[in-house]
Parts: sequence; structure tokens; C-alpha cells
Amino acid sequence: MTWKNAIKLKRLKDGKTKMVTFGLKTVMVGQIGEHYFATEGLCRHMRWPLAWGGKIKDDCIRCPLHQSTYQLDDGKVTEWSPFPLFPPYGKLLGKLSKQKDLKIYETRINGDYLQIEI
Ligand code: FES
Repeated sequence: MTWKNAIKLKRLKDGKTKMVTFGLKTVMVGQIGEHYFATEGLCRHMRWPLAWGGKIKDDCIRCPLHQSTYQLDDGKVTEWSPFPLFPPYGKLLGKLSKQKDLKIYETRINGDYLQIEI
């Protein structure tokens, strides 16, 4: 495990996320107030890139595709494919993949950069 520069701090905005890649690994980074976070970048349900439309609310990230929701501090699933527009469809899609938590990466600030341990 080594610390890698993920993104310049000035590119982050409060309540927003960005996608960064390290080789084949995709990581979502973001900021909530003075807190920075980094998680695996793809939803555990059907691999949608969470930074592409994912919404932060109540310290959780919600996938825009079928609305699976994960806590940003420990990656725990709080909802799995509820798909509120048509819950029976969400329930069916939810069964297509096993419910899994989101991987969380340690972060630190080094100079102008947010670094993650990867
Ligand atoms: S891909 Fe994210 S909830 Fe289905």
C-alpha cells in the first residue's frame, strides 16, 4: 500500500465527487465540508460509475441508476437497488448481484493534493 496523489484539492467542491483512475482501478473522491473521502468508483450493484450522477445526502452516496446507497465513512450498503420509480423492478435487479459494501480508501492531504492509500 502506498500513498498516491489522487487529485488537486482546488478541483474538488463541497458536496461533489470526481472520478480518478490508477491503472485499471477506478476511484471516486469527494469532499463534504472539511472532510475528504475516497471510495471505489463503481457501484457494487451493476458497476455504474458513481461520480457520474451519484448524489451525496446524509453522508451517503446514492447511485443514479437503481438508487443503491452506501455510507461514505465505512462503505456499508444502506439501500440495495430500491429503484423507487418501480420498486418491483428494483427488487428483481437487486437479486441479479449479491449485496456488497463499497470499498473505502484512506485519505490524507499532502501539499496541494488529496492523496489516497492504494
Ligand atoms: S448500478 Fe448502481 S444501483 Fe444499480
